[in-house]
Amino acid sequence: MTEKRKILVTSALPYANGAIHLGHLVEYIQTDVWVRFQRMRGHEIYYVCADDAHGTPIMLRAQNEGITPEALIERIAEEHQRDFADFAISFDNFYSTHSDENRKFAQGIYRKLKDAGHIAVRTIKQAYDPEKEMFLPDRFIKGTCPRCGAEDQYGDNCEVCGSSYDTTDLKNPRSVVSGATPIEKESEHYFFKLADFEDMLRDWLRPDQAEAISAPRMHTLHQLQHVHTEHVQADVVSKLEEWFEGGLQDWDISRDAPYFGFEIPDTKDKYFYVWLDAPMGYMASFQQLCKNKGMDFDGWWKPDSDTELYHFIGKDILYFHALFWPAVLAGAGYRRPTSIFTHGFLTVDGNKMSKSRGTFINARTYLDHINPEYLRYYFAAKLGNTVEDIDLNLEDFLLRVNSDLVGKVINIASRCAGFISKRFDGKLADHLPEPDLYQQFVDAGESIAMHFEKREYSRAVREIMALADIANQYINDKEPWVVAKQEGSDSELQAICTQGLNLFYVLMGYLKPIIPATADKTEAFLGIEPLAWESTRTPLTGHTIHTFKHMLTRVEQDQIESMLVQAKEELVPLSDTKTISGPLADDPIRDLIEFDDFAKVDLRVALIAKAEHVEGADKLLRLTLDLGGETRNVFAGIKSAYQPEDLEGRLTVMVANLAPRKMRFGVSEGMVLAAGPGGKELWILSPDTGAKPGMRIK
Ligand code: MSP
Ligand code: ZN
Repeated sequence: MTEKRKILVTSALPYANGAIHLGHLVEYIQTDVWVRFQRMRGHEIYYVCADDAHGTPIMLRAQNEGITPEALIERIAEEHQRDFADFAISFDNFYSTHSDENRKFAQGIYRKLKDAGHIAVRTIKQAYDPEKEMFLPDRFIKGTCPRCGAEDQYGDNCEVCGSSYDTTDLKNPRSVVSGATPIEKESEHYFFKLADFEDMLRDWLRPDQAEAISAPRMHTLHQLQHVHTEHVQADVVSKLEEWFEGGLQDWDISRDAPYFGFEIPDTKDKYFYVWLDAPMGYMASFQQLCKNKGMDFDGWWKPDSDTELYHFIGKDILYFHALFWPAVLAGAGYRRPTSIFTHGFLTVDGNKMSKSRGTFINARTYLDHINPEYLRYYFAAKLGNTVEDIDLNLEDFLLRVNSDLVGKVINIASRCAGFISKRFDGKLADHLPEPDLYQQFVDAGESIAMHFEKREYSRAVREIMALADIANQYINDKEPWVVAKQEGSDSELQAICTQGLNLFYVLMGYLKPIIPATADKTEAFLGIEPLAWESTRTPLTGHTIHTFKHMLTRVEQDQIESMLVQAKEELVPLSDTKTISGPLADDPIRDLIEFDDFAKVDLRVALIAKAEHVEGADKLLRLTLDLGGETRNVFAGIKSAYQPEDLEGRLTVMVANLAPRKMRFGVSEGMVLAAGPGGKELWILSPDTGAKPGMRIK
């Protein structure tokens, strides 16, 4: 048995302004698999998290909903925790950054940094919304790109031509919050002097040469605990070097009121920037756990602690975790993380998750249609320990889950269990017919464990599935269904099935960190204690099992389709508008429009005078719309739902002042309005009786 380690693990704290989506789940599943694995190994391990509750987007969203930020974050916390629980994310504690504990950490750490001279105060100029009376982060200002003239671009970069610029260069700037033209205004800001920690950080980030030589690549289980000698993965070092080259800038840690956050001690109307107190939320959540369990918080966070601390994060927040966070901890006299484990981003079918393609899928939407164990398995099967992005290919997902989990693993049990129940009253044989084969499965545990430890889950899965193939081959060769029909071969049948079920037993032990709910069912079926990593070293013989019930059913194409339809229908959650543009960007919110914006759209009642097919177009119909004298030619993508003859003579609603658009089939002079997810489910709008062609809608 290896030495018992004391390990504290965190996942990044999700923002409390939106739902958990499948992108987030890459991280929570990655972390949870690791945590469950370490628990099975018998280590003392705690997994804590919290909602990240502060900041401008949360404040504004609460205002839009007409509720207090406290009420908003409480509601979201419930939603988040329900989603996490349903995906079997096994936090030991889930808290909020808006807590008394966290306030104490934020203010206490700030005081220590200030007393040690690491805080500077300077007056800076910033964009200010005179109507809403608040300072505007870059992402809350939109205008015309100074380079290419594209409209509606964010304050710091243009999504059309890709150039970045100063907000002051933006043409026709306006506040996303109120629509007002921002003015420049001065205010005093507080800065953390990151450069004070440059040497410390360089040392900390450089893989320790001495350590690397005295402790070369570890190959045995016993040495595994020394495997994480690097504070960050090799593949993010170059990114960090770039940041050092660029020079470590002072970090602006204050925001002016109005702001939802903690007040900075000894100031008036100044608040800590959300990212200052967010990582302290790790400590606050752990402190709450310590209190509940009577554990010693300080022992885990003092500089020479013999405990391990790991933060799982996405690549977009590396700067905060690999630079600011260790510097803040060191500056305030705490230990630094053992390692930062950084993962890449999720793509769906090869693209960034997208609302319009219907591939922006919330955790709940997935749960409404598909078993969470499948996503856990699929992500594990794809995850390595690098920052490479991972793709959820839905076709591959279906094939992989069905063939691996249902077709291979569960199949082993379902091929053997029936005979044991029916013919032997649930009793397994007293001996394994092929102990060597069993031993081969047990021996593989060492390298599988190594892969889990190093977060090489895809390798672990590959090895486990190779074993599952061997187990199925064994059953194919022994043909228990043939043996079952032969006179006097009872003991042979019992032996074969006992062997098969024991191979299944070992495999489920290895899969338990990935598919814990299925492991629970396995434990109930086999009538055993909860599986630990070592428990499958001795086979189950002379033991009585229960009747086999179906543990997992195949994923069907229509489940995936209905999930996608639902994803498309759902309203844009406010969190979706997060576009990452450098580590220091604030999150934007969805634009609200003013009445004037609405009034710009000329909506008219239109009579569909003529509707016809368009040669060569699979989706379009050509409509001739009568606006009470004036006619318009419009190509509408509604062919999947309507026959032209059903449309002629009907009234509908059109946008009459849309700039004409040249299409392959001709010029389209407007747009008709329709609702629904698409395909057959598409309905054009029609006005109530009495409306006449050409009437303006207001
Ligand atoms: N609140 C901050 C983290 C503070 S930690 C002290 C934040 N929140 S987040 O909700 O935007 O993201 C939470 C985690 O999910 C981050 O590690 C982020 O990288 C990860 N992901 C969010 N979208 C993701 C994908 N599309 N793909 C993979 N991970 C993603 O950042
Ligand atoms: Zn541009």
